Amino acid sequence: MALRHRHACNVAITLTPTGEWQTAQSVTAEARELLDCLTPLASRPAWVVAQLGQSMDGRIATESGHSHYINGHESLVHLHRLRALVDAVVVGAGTASADNPQLTVRHVSGTHPARVVLDPRGRIPSDLALLNSDSAPTLHIVGLA
Ligand SMILES: NC(=O)c1ccc[n+]([C@@H]2O[C@H](COP(=O)([O-])OP(=O)(O)OC[C@H]3O[C@@H](n4cnc5c(N)ncnc54)[C@H](OP(=O)(O)O)[C@@H]3O)[C@@H](O)[C@H]2O)c1
Repeated sequence: MALRHRHACNVAITLTPTGEWQTAQSVTAEARELLDCLTPLASRPAWVVAQLGQSMDGRIATESGHSHYINGHESLVHLHRLRALVDAVVVGAGTASADNPQLTVRHVSGTHPARVVLDPRGRIPSDLALLNSDSAPTLHIVGLA
């Protein structure tokens, strides 16, 4: 089965199940490069995407463990756009405890993903925002004692 996508300039692009793209119209070298890069994403049934915010000196959090202000506005919008595209967002117990995240979509329009917390030792505080709001389903996964 081939998927057909049409963008704002009315160029019809056919995607094959193997990730190749075809069009009867001419496209620029820049557009060709972009299509080569992005169309494989549309041809797979499921993806796992890893996202991290990183400071200029390569850190994902401050020395005290906080990461809230590592991201600038544009990367926060990008993060929320990714959340809007996925079924579930997964964080560890360390992130849930340090950041108390909501893991919802707020900077763009879109549906909140399910929230999954991997917590093998059952150590996250019970008053965390994601355990006490019903804005999205939350799966709190705890290891066996
Ligand atoms: N900049 C960013 O984009 C960003 C995003 C998210 C988080 N952060 C920052 O990252 C930090 C949290 O990092 P973290 O290292 O604690 O990561 P984390 O991803 O929050 O937690 C790691 C999880 O993996 C579990 N784990 C580790 N080794 C394991 C093993 N061998 N077997 C089974 N489970 C295992 C840990 O269990 P235990 O409960 O036993 O430890 C914990 O639940 C915070 O400072 C947060 O602010 C930054």
